Amino acid sequence: MMNPHNVIAAKNSGKSISTTDLYSFISGYVEDRIDDTTMSGLLKAIFDHGMTHDEIYTMVDIMIHSGKQMNFEHLSDYVCDKHSIGGVGDKTSLVIAPLLASAGLYLPMIAGRSLGHTGGTLDKLETIPGFRADIPLDKFQKLVEKNHSGILAQTSEICPADGKIYALRDVTGTIASVPLIVGSIMSKKIAEGIQGLVLDIKVGSGAFMTTLEKATELAEMLKEVGEHFGVKTDLVYSNMDQPLGRFSGMWCEVKEAIDCLHGKGPEDTMALCMKLASKLMIQSGKANEEVESNSILNELIENGSAYERFEVITAAQGGNISKVDHSPSYTLDITAEKSGIIQSMNTTEIGWGLVEMGCGRKQKNDILDPSAGVECHFKIGDEVKKEDVLFTCFCNDEQKLKAGVEKIAHSVIIGSESVKLSLFYN
Ligand code: URA
Repeated sequence: MMNPHNVIAAKNSGKSISTTDLYSFISGYVEDRIDDTTMSGLLKAIFDHGMTHDEIYTMVDIMIHSGKQMNFEHLSDYVCDKHSIGGVGDKTSLVIAPLLASAGLYLPMIAGRSLGHTGGTLDKLETIPGFRADIPLDKFQKLVEKNHSGILAQTSEICPADGKIYALRDVTGTIASVPLIVGSIMSKKIAEGIQGLVLDIKVGSGAFMTTLEKATELAEMLKEVGEHFGVKTDLVYSNMDQPLGRFSGMWCEVKEAIDCLHGKGPEDTMALCMKLASKLMIQSGKANEEVESNSILNELIENGSAYERFEVITAAQGGNISKVDHSPSYTLDITAEKSGIIQSMNTTEIGWGLVEMGCGRKQKNDILDPSAGVECHFKIGDEVKKEDVLFTCFCNDEQKLKAGVEKIAHSVIIGSESVKLSLFYN
């Protein structure tokens, strides 16, 4: 019989946990035989002492098998996904899913909600009237088979152990642990029944991992787990020192993703989407290298197939784009205090400003504002003149707008050095 307190004590003294003990602990928690306080003890011990590779593999396996898994083995084409590790203005999922679906790949995407200062794909998609992401797994699987993609919320059917543990991590300060993050992300990805994955590892002032060193530690572990479970996993390290694209927020990000699908998106967003998409095109054998992938995907954008697929995917989940009406009631500009060159942006602070305005939750049950967002008129390295508008902030609540502007107003440093930022680290 496993004694939970002995397991926690062992972890706290630096010992590893056996497969059977870890299995009993986690399944005991999912089945309510182990309470929150005891589970918190284990999470804190893992947070402080880490986990071995074998422990992580076991934890992922337990989480996957705590729920149902999708199965696409009967399909003839490549089944894959893209996952980004948090960011501000990151709408790449909204572009990549329909784009690659229009190229014949299958993407059964489980997406998340806003987390801390970062935006959530599901929250953005739900600004489309009628769109639902909490659909039964068997129905979702059929939608993916028919339309080549769909976007699902983590329901009680998918990795319920992760769902329960994640909620506890959120209130026990144990989110920022590499093994726990890896277990949480990869269990959901593997449960999708995918063959391949590309991970967008964000690095910089708006990312969870602010240095390349920390980001690499997380990324390598994610890749190892993916490969251990037979999922071909590629890594792209991308810069998150400034918001991605021109718009960050709710509906305005969906609109910008639609611009990308029409080939009219901002340069950085298009470049990142094409890079991430190319990894999956190459994995699937649809392209031999990036140039070939870009040419296939650009054709799908130009001939309208990519956007058409976006409409098919969102409509299949109840979304009606023609009913969107999110013009914000209030707008405020933030201007440059002096002339010079933009040196840096505190992108996490911009993210928290967006949360204030209704793009994220400070409390679990906060209601989001579909009209809220920020337009970023300049980027790092751009020259600005005193009084130039740096950001236009907008939402439907005047007080919330002011609170957001207060945070964003001091997020930019203007100096005299010329600065050149590269979008990729590898
Ligand atoms: N996203 C997840 O799904 N889990 C984590 O732990 C962090 C980000």
